[in-house]
This record gives sequence, structure tokens and C-alpha cells, in this order.
Amino acid sequence: MKTLITGGAGFIGYHLTNYLLKNTKADLVLIDNFTRGKWDAALDALRTNPRVTFIELDLTDQDSYSKLGSGYNHVYHLAAINGTKNFYEIPHEVLRINMQTLEFMLEWFRKNNNKGKFLFTSSNEAYAGALEAFNQLPIPTPENVPLVISDTYNPRWTYAASKLIGELFVINYAAQYKFKAVIVRPHNFYGPRAGKDHVIPEFSLRIKRREDPFIISGADNTRSFCYIDDAVRAMAELMKSKTTNNLPIETVHIGAREEISMENLAKKLFVISGWKPKKIVIKQAPEGSVLRRLPDISKIEKLIGWKPEIDLDDGLKRTYKWYISNYKLL
Ligand SMILES: NC(=O)c1ccc[n+]([C@@H]2O[C@H](COP(=O)([O-])OP(=O)(O)OC[C@H]3O[C@@H](n4cnc5c(N)ncnc54)[C@H](O)[C@@H]3O)[C@@H](O)[C@H]2O)c1
Repeated sequence: MKTLITGGAGFIGYHLTNYLLKNTKADLVLIDNFTRGKWDAALDALRTNPRVTFIELDLTDQDSYSKLGSGYNHVYHLAAINGTKNFYEIPHEVLRINMQTLEFMLEWFRKNNNKGKFLFTSSNEAYAGALEAFNQLPIPTPENVPLVISDTYNPRWTYAASKLIGELFVINYAAQYKFKAVIVRPHNFYGPRAGKDHVIPEFSLRIKRREDPFIISGADNTRSFCYIDDAVRAMAELMKSKTTNNLPIETVHIGAREEISMENLAKKLFVISGWKPKKIVIKQAPEGSVLRRLPDISKIEKLIGWKPEIDLDDGLKRTYKWYISNYKLL
């Protein structure tokens, strides 16, 4: 069994690799160019595993694809430029890199992996524009809602556009060349080694600094968070399952049902840390922030029987502990 993971040094790629090492016999090839993923002790530990091969390359360089080899059973295409800061600072690169890497991967995949299955990580951002434009998506939100770019002049939507077109690319390549594929839309995965640009690491690090007064923006906004171990298990199970081998391919939400407000999230982390500020200051949510975001995850449960197992308190404890001991690496 041969598996390839692009973006293997990133947050999801790293945890997926560990999951596959523990739960399958597959040999793993990890591809990354380290624009975001970090070469740290955790990755070094993976490198010493005889089942893991690291190839450092830029997937926008189509000439380098000969280094990937061929005949993979599973290809997880995770590499992309994400992070809200990038959407505003380098929107043209978000579009170029996300589109080129996907297009070149699909071309390489269809020519070199005739028995393989392809997984593409889209995003809930692909439908977030519909919320902004019409403010009436069903909650929880199922997979088949319209995907909308609400304003082509707002660079924030470049990432969403790359995922929207990305979904069309994968659906139509799979249909045309008759290969197995699945599209997943991750909803707020969290856990150790997720960088700093996410609310849970951000709150954890501000708690570590004993920030007082403690500012919470959009305190009544609710989100749901899916712990990374549950998330990568879902991805691996989708790839393994025969229920996702048919055409047209399936698009599937991965996320959690439990909803929590930003204020209650901060309060849970105060309890875990054993510290709380004397004063909490509530500020307005950033412009464009939606009040509720909650995925409908009934489809994945029906397809493969998956549901999240790690509850928020447990996941937050593990994540907080990791951030407090590893903050120097960030
Ligand atoms: N983490 C989430 O909750 C979440 C939510 C929605 C969508 N996603 C999607 O899931 C995928 C993985 O997300 P993540 O959180 O692990 O992100 P990440 O940024 O941690 O990992 C992406 C990896 O891709 C690599 N990469 C970028 N451009 C590359 C290139 N040209 N060549 C080779 N490697 C390149 C980066 O160096 C990085 O290690 C992405 O496609 C992302 O858009 C993630």
C-alpha cells in the first residue's frame, strides 16, 4: 500500500501521517516546500521512521513531479496557502498556488496512478460567501448549499474561490478520467501544532501571558471545533471506504456537532489553565464575521459511520497543554 500526502509538514498532514503509521501498513511519501509547515523535532521524529519518505519540493513546479513516482493507492492533496492574513496580503499568490498545485496534481495523478484514490481538502469558506450575501443558510449547514463568492473585489474571497473552483476541478477530472476521489470540507480542526492563527492557540497564548483585561471579540459568536485526531480518522476512513468509490464523487463535511460561544470557549480555557483574568472586555466581532457556523455532519455518519469521539473539554486540555509547553517553537 502506497500513500502520498502533499502538505505533509503542515498541521493536518503531520497528524494524518501519525494516524496512518499507527493504523495502517502503508508506506508514506510526504511532500512539502515548507512555506508554512515547520521542520521541527516532531517532523524529525517522523523522518527516522523507515515507512516515511520526505520529498521537499514546490508543487507549483510541474517539472519536479517526476520525483513523486507513481502507482499510489491513496493521494491526500492537502498542500495549499491558507490563513486569513495571506488572503489579504498575497491574494494573487493564494489563487496561483492553490490552483496550480491542484491542477498539476490532478494531471500527475490521472497519468500515473491508475488504481488510486484522490482526496481534496476544500473548506467551509467555499460556502461562507453565501452566508454573507444572503444570510440565510440552514444551520446546521449541509454539503449541498450554494457556493458563492459574494464580492470579487474583496481579497478575502480568493481562498474561498480557489476551493470552489478546486471542487469543480476534482469532480470533473474524476468524472472524465474515471478515477476514485472524495472532497472533504474541514470545519475548524484544532489540536497541537496548528500554528498561531486560530482562536484556540491565540486564547491559550494570551492566557499564558496572563492578559488582563482579557479581550474577547464577538463573544456571542458560536463555532464548533473538531479535534484533529477525530478529523484525520475521518479522512482516512473516507479513503478506505468503498461507499466513496462511486461517480459522481462525494463531497463531505467533517466537523463537530457541539457549538460553543467565544466567551464560553475562553471560560473553558481559564478553567483548564487554573487562572482567570480580573476583567473580561467584550468587543464587537470583526466585520463580516458570522454569528453561527455549524456543519451538518449527518452525511459522513451515513456514508462511513464516523462521528467525533473526543469531546471539547478533553481536546482543549490536550491542545492547551501542548501550546503551553511548545510556545517557543511558534
Ligand atoms: N485546518 C483546518 O481546520 C482547515 C480548514 C479548512 C480547510 N483546510 C484545508 O486543509 C488543507 C491542510 O490544512 P492545514 O491546516 O494542514 O494547513 P497548513 O498550512 O498547516 O499545511 C499546508 C502545507 O502545504 C504546504 N505547501 C503550501 N504550498 C506548497 C507548495 N507549493 N508545494 C508544496 N507544499 C506546499 C505548506 O508548507 C504547509 O506545510 C489545506 O488545503 C487547507 O486549505 C484546513
